[in-house]
Amino acid sequence: MQIGIDKIGFSTSSLYLDLVELAEARGVDPNKYLIGIGQAKQAVIAPTQDIVTMGASAAAQILTETEKAKITTVIVATESGIDNSKASAIYVKTLLGLDDFVRTIEFKEACYAGTAAIQAAKGLVSANPDEQVLVIAADIARYGLNTPGEVTQGGGAVAMLVKANPRILTIENPSVPITRDVMDFWRPLGATEAIVDGKYSTNVYIEMFLDAFKRYQQLTNDQLTDFTALAFHLPFTKMGKKALEALLGEDHSAIAEQLRAQLTASQQLNREVGNLYTGSLYLSLISLLANGNVKAGDKLGLFSYGSGAEGEFYPVKLQPGFENAFSSQQIEANLANRTKVSVTEYESIFNSQLGMNTADISLNIDADPNQFVLAGIQDQKRIYQIQS
Ligand code: HMG
Repeated sequence: MQIGIDKIGFSTSSLYLDLVELAEARGVDPNKYLIGIGQAKQAVIAPTQDIVTMGASAAAQILTETEKAKITTVIVATESGIDNSKASAIYVKTLLGLDDFVRTIEFKEACYAGTAAIQAAKGLVSANPDEQVLVIAADIARYGLNTPGEVTQGGGAVAMLVKANPRILTIENPSVPITRDVMDFWRPLGATEAIVDGKYSTNVYIEMFLDAFKRYQQLTNDQLTDFTALAFHLPFTKMGKKALEALLGEDHSAIAEQLRAQLTASQQLNREVGNLYTGSLYLSLISLLANGNVKAGDKLGLFSYGSGAEGEFYPVKLQPGFENAFSSQQIEANLANRTKVSVTEYESIFNSQLGMNTADISLNIDADPNQFVLAGIQDQKRIYQIQS
């Protein structure tokens, strides 16, 4: 049975920060952010948005009512959880209007959890072809004001429908997971910002990518020429370039140049949004499908990485007519319609984002154009609303 991604969509906040303005405010050459880091804009997440509202928006954009009725499982992959016990997928289920006969769970392992959810979804479908799994990879990346990680913040959600006979791509074998116990990035309980050893984290990422890819080649005998493109977890777009160049070295053959060009195509949307942790690889995949030179039958290699650290390299195959099952127009229109905030406004929004232990609060939802909003907290319960 062929199993894979049937639909894919993306949603983020309606606000963004121009990173040239952030560079000026921080006294940094803008080219460090634009070229050295490879980011142009960053999603700024209003207090009325979180993983639930963005995840529900991403799913609502791609699912018809008929498709919603067939969903059997919802998995939200995130490291920006809103409760230590209750799964955010339950709130998403309510906002999407799914019926009660559905399984709802949350997965965590830093940025890698989206891929864990995809592979688990594949397992569910292979055990029962009637399963249709909604996977949502949603996060808000926070490092703190005036930190080196600040320019690599962002946020948003990617929603994917995993089922049998998918229209976009099939998830192929073998997949190569890889885990090493390292402290490159973590967020202790109660902390709202991550602790990160930034340069170390980029080195661990590269090493684990190279080791996973080498093992994949040992298992398959596949060469670079077997792939039309490689797509990467992109905490910032330069990270993908670092990983690809570590693999290619001085290689300037036709396939090496092709992979470099496809990487540029896969970075476009991420440059505008920043890191969305679990969803970053899949936003890059959307960007590749929309902007890359790809066609039905092509094999793509995906590298997922989550600090701590866990990675996975796996192949996927594009399906005939995938371009009709997928559109980036709405995503691009939503990004183009965002409102720019000043650095001062961004700092104030950053400081007003709700943590886990917030007292009762009522939020002003009037300024938020998103369909799903967090209206406040009452008796330690998050109150979500649907706006028309
Ligand atoms: P930094 O201190 O800004 O680094 O931190 P830098 O001073 O080395 O500068 C960065 C690059 O800009 C360098 O290029 C400079 O040469 C260049 P590189 O050597 O890296 O190729 N540069 C310039 N380029 C053009 N014009 C200029 C200029 N000036 C300098 N004028 C760092 C950068 C990424 C470490 C920091 O932002 C950080 O800590 N970010 C957060 C951690 C992170 O994203 N790590 C990535 C790997 S770990 C991962 O992916 C997992 C993660 O997503 C979390 C999870 O799994 O949950 C993070």
